[in-house]
This record gives sequence, structure tokens and C-alpha cells, in this order.
Amino acid sequence: MTAVVVVGSGIAGLTAALHAAENGCHVTIVTKGALPDTNTRWAQGGIAAVTHPADSVASHAADTHTAGAGLTDAAAVDVLVGEGPARILELVSRGVTFDRTPDGDFARGLEAAHAVPRVLHAGGDATGAEIQAALGSAVRAAHLTVREHALLRDLVVEGGHVTGIVLDGGERLDADAVILATGGAGQLYAHTTNPLGATGDGIAAALRAGAAVADLEFVQFHPTALAVGAPFLVSEAVRGEGAVLIDDAGRRFCFDAHPDGELAPRDVVARSNARAMAAQGDRPVRLDATALGAERLAQRFPTIDAAVRARGLDWAREPIPVTPAAHYLMGGIVTDLDGRTSVPGLYAVGETARTGVHGANRLASNSLLEGAVFGARAGEAVAAGGAWPIPPVSTTLAEAEAAAEAPPFSREALQQVMWAHAGLVRDAAGLDHASGLLAAWAASPAPLSVEDANLLLVARHVVAAARARTGSVGAHFRADAPAAASVPPVQEALAC
Ligand code: SIN
Repeated sequence: MTAVVVVGSGIAGLTAALHAAENGCHVTIVTKGALPDTNTRWAQGGIAAVTHPADSVASHAADTHTAGAGLTDAAAVDVLVGEGPARILELVSRGVTFDRTPDGDFARGLEAAHAVPRVLHAGGDATGAEIQAALGSAVRAAHLTVREHALLRDLVVEGGHVTGIVLDGGERLDADAVILATGGAGQLYAHTTNPLGATGDGIAAALRAGAAVADLEFVQFHPTALAVGAPFLVSEAVRGEGAVLIDDAGRRFCFDAHPDGELAPRDVVARSNARAMAAQGDRPVRLDATALGAERLAQRFPTIDAAVRARGLDWAREPIPVTPAAHYLMGGIVTDLDGRTSVPGLYAVGETARTGVHGANRLASNSLLEGAVFGARAGEAVAAGGAWPIPPVSTTLAEAEAAAEAPPFSREALQQVMWAHAGLVRDAAGLDHASGLLAAWAASPAPLSVEDANLLLVARHVVAAARARTGSVGAHFRADAPAAASVPPVQEALAC
């Protein structure tokens, strides 16, 4: 029986685990928190998929390519949107209760850069929590082995193959295959919508094992995190329902940058917000949802409504302050269409992976879909086994010379450097400065925690990729080359 270790317990990891187990594998799920402590659980807006006869996979694919600024992989996008409807039915069969209209059809929300409303949601704005709960119950019902509070320290590579993992503390778990589903690395940044656990653990472990990564310069910043209290996402779906963004003068500034205004692709809106904030002394812009009314806001967005009101704001009566925040990593470990990486025995799925479906900017609500579609494919592939069709490809790290003088490493210092120099707007001088500081920290003998070491390694690769891509495209905006320039890929993607 094939022994599989799945690291991570969000939608991608649990879907992969269930498919592998249902196809005869012995599966162990390893997660550094409790099973439901994932970024998936925080997802609000929903999951995009074609579920209406007036919609089409061609339309969903076109929107995905447009948002991705031409750097998406056509074969991967075809898989994503083509297999999406089947994965929605699978989620329903596993117990996810999507919101319905009075006549029993799926209720579909509109989000930025979608041609039609196709975003399914559950519990209003608690889609991720509903999916997490259903998949967690399915895993428990299937009696899969679950190791909670177990932090991945490293992959074991023997004879060029991944043969297991080592946990922080030294315990080794042997496996015929390892599937990394550890999510993203929002904790690279001073402002993020991600939970504390988003420290790039899988990407860092894969890098240390020699796996190829790509597109790490493409970090998505969400336009609307609440600017009061602890960071909290205000879903794009709120704008989809009609809320608008205004500056201190009450002006809707988003149309300055794009004819779709607040529903332009996410990178465009995030930069519009940043620009408007800079023009008003860095005060947050405001999201005006008052036209929706108290009843609609509470019924459609109960989670956000509670968070807003807990901060003493009444968004039914007045616009609320919002700011961009790091939200999603488009790049990651390079995979083929079945989650295989460039290291035999190692798979990656979900935000940890770079499948090519997001290009330079992810379309809203395609992330849960990616986890479901490619999680299922990886689970099936691991069970099928067979020869490893992918040649080894490794990633090079071209850094600036280590800075002669650097403050001592701290997570906060790293997050500030990344926010200031590798954030929404970048330029050569800032990236070189960041690269030198990161290199100096990497050269320091001071020991770091596993998570801090992971963040530092991923940060070095994000900055190196951003330095190498000298033109602006999608979420990677260079103030020193603002017009779209020729943008050669930094690394070869695997042949799929
Ligand atoms: C949101 O609800 O705005 C976030 C959804 C996503 O990241 O796709």
C-alpha cells in the first residue's frame, strides 16, 4: 500500500488526502496547528465555478487569463475551469451547504474581473469555514491518521527521491510520496489578511530539497483589509454587491485607473487604493457599503458584519476605513497538472504550488477552486504511481551582496522590509536594498525558529524574482518601469 504524507490541512491538502485514501493509499495528514487552523477557513468570498447554463468554461477561462495578465498557463487553466463543476458537486456530496436562491438554485456572487456572477458561497461570507468543516468531518469519518501540532522541519531526500519528512523535534515519518499543501506566506509582510501560520513552510522545505519554484514575485495584495484593529479581510464580494471605494473627499477614484472601477482586477484596485492613500497622507481610503442597508449587510455578510461592529463601526451608516494587505502568493513550487514537482516523490497543491493557473494575478475566488481541482488530481496521481515524468530543474538565487550593516533579524524587521521594498510598488533601488539586508540576515550565525528561517528563505526568493523581472506585469508593479514591458519568465515552467 502506498504510504502518503500530506502536509497541510486546508482545502487542497484534505482533498488530496481524501482522494489518495479513496484510491487505496495509507494517508497521514500532518498539520502544525489543529486540523481546522488553515487559511481556507478564513476564505470569505467563495469558490468560482461554472454552474449556470448562461455561463461557460470558455468565459471563466478568459477571465482567468485576463486577470493573470497573459502569464497564465493555458493547459492548467483549462483543467481548473473544466474540472471545477465536478469538484463543486464533490464538495456538495461531502456535505458543503452552498447558499441557495428561493427556487433552490445556487446563489452566485459577482467578484472583480468575472464577466458574470459565478462565485458560490456558504453561510453568506463563511465559505471557507463551511468547506473546512465538511472536509474535516470527511477526514475524520474516513479514519485517516491526523497528526496535529506537528511542524514540518524538512523533507527527507534519499537517492534523489523524497522518502519522508522530519518534524520539528526530530521525529521522522517515512513515505512513498509527500504532498505539500502548506498554503502561502502572507506573514512575509507587515500587513496581511493571512493567519499567523502562513509562513511558507512547504515552499522553503521544497527549496531546501532542490525543487524548482517560479513566479514568486507575484504577490497579490487584497485592496480591502479593515484598517482598524487586527487585520481583517473585507471580501471583494462586498464590492460585487455594490459597495464603492472613496477617498477623503468622497470621490470614487478607482475609475481613474480602469473602466471597471472597483471591480477591476484586484491588483489594479489595490494599487488605486495605495495611490489614493499616498495622496492623502497615508490615511486609509473608505469602503462605502451604506447603500446595501443594515439588513442586507448582516444577512449576506454575517462574519464581516460582526467584525466591523466589534471594532465599533456601523458600516450600514458610514463608510469604513480599508487598506491593501498581502493576501495570496501566485507563485510557488513548480508542478505539472497532477501536482508533481521537479523532485521525484514530492507533490505540491494549492497556494504552495505554482500550477500556472494564476499567472501574474489570481482571479478572485479561483484559489479554493484550485485547491479542490488540483488536490483531487494529486491524490489520484499519487495513488496511480508510475514513473516520474519530470526532469530535475533547480532554482537559482541571484542576490545582492550582503549589506555590510544590517539590524538584527526579527520577524517584524523582515516584514517591514518586505512591505516597504517588495510590496505593492517596487523599484530596483528598493529591491537591491532588501536583497542585501536579507542576504546579511541569511549569513548571520544567529539561529532562527523553523518558521522564521522559512520566511527568510522565501523572502530571499521573492526579492530575487522581483529583481529579475524588470518590467511591470500584473501584481508585480515596478515604479521604475510602470508601463507593461517585455516580461520574460524568470524560470522555465515544467513541461506538463
Ligand atoms: C475575497 O473574499 O475578497 C477574497 C476571495 C479571494 O481571495 O479569492
